[in-house]
Amino acid sequence: MPTPLLTASVTVWCAAPGAAGVRASAWLSPAEALRASAFRHEEDRQRFVTGRALVRAALGERLGVSPTEVAIRVGPRDAASPGRPFVEGAPSFSIAHAGRWVLVAVVGAVTGSRGVAGDATSDGDLDVAAGVDVGVDVESTAPARDHLTDLLDAVPPGERPADGWDAESFTRSWARREAVLKAVGTGLLAPRDDLLLSPADHAAAVVRSRGAVPAPDRLALRDLELPSEPSGARPSPSAGETHLAAVALCSPGAPVAFSTVELADGPTLLSRHGLGNP
Ligand SMILES: CC(C)(COP(=O)(O)OP(=O)(O)OC[C@H]1O[C@@H](n2cnc3c(N)ncnc32)[C@H](O)[C@@H]1OP(=O)(O)O)[C@@H](O)C(=O)NCCC(=O)NCCS
Repeated sequence: MPTPLLTASVTVWCAAPGAAGVRASAWLSPAEALRASAFRHEEDRQRFVTGRALVRAALGERLGVSPTEVAIRVGPRDAASPGRPFVEGAPSFSIAHAGRWVLVAVVGAVTGSRGVAGDATSDGDLDVAAGVDVGVDVESTAPARDHLTDLLDAVPPGERPADGWDAESFTRSWARREAVLKAVGTGLLAPRDDLLLSPADHAAAVVRSRGAVPAPDRLALRDLELPSEPSGARPSPSAGETHLAAVALCSPGAPVAFSTVELADGPTLLSRHGLGNP
């Protein structure tokens, strides 16, 4: 019998850097507060604090506990993921921030099925131990606009679009790569050529993998279509800059596919817990 396919829904909470507001600092652990105090730029501090606040609010609702009871740990959950944050007994989540975006992806229902992707035969919901991890990334096109030639070595030549690289296609490839490697848990510690994705002008897909990166059928990848601004954000001063995002799943033990991917409003989530900007 073939290994059952797992399908997972993912919610991606989206917010602007300052969306959590000043009261969010009270939610930080002592280690996070120390880290937050070390940022040199206020906007970097806000991105970090808002990311952690979105994780606590989303997982608190899932676990039925208060956000401040959600203990985010960073460390060697397993050998492959030395720096990945996680919450014991909770679904996998992933944080990304760049420019005017903070994204937090959380795995929702995981369903096992004996068929192929899209097969309606379902064996029902599995619990968080189903072993499906999520990774999300968002990137500004600005660095690639300014330094494209210097950056090209970072992606395999096989991902080159038919018409050659430009800022948009490079950023697309890069966001997909980071999303997959966050789902795997290695981050960019994985050698470049251990992962080959589809060319940047094709639909997102994992073509080849090796080393610590599981086989392509154990990974799933999608581009995310972000609106031009997060809700409640001030209009951006950096005209012409766009942000591209991707989300990925990793399930070393079984083939995996997305059931649904939903973009959700971060400020709405935060306001349910008394955070945000009045
Ligand atoms: C994970 C990584 C790809 C993040 O890329 P980035 O563009 O700098 O930042 P992003 O905003 O996209 O993502 C940052 C988030 O990734 C998450 N993250 C960090 N390491 C991760 C890992 N190994 N797996 C999954 N997610 C990870 C964190 O949640 C972090 O947000 P937080 O610090 O606010 O909690 C990159 O930092 C990396 O490859 N790290 C692994 C290598 C490493 O440990 N380097 C440290 C130097 S000693």
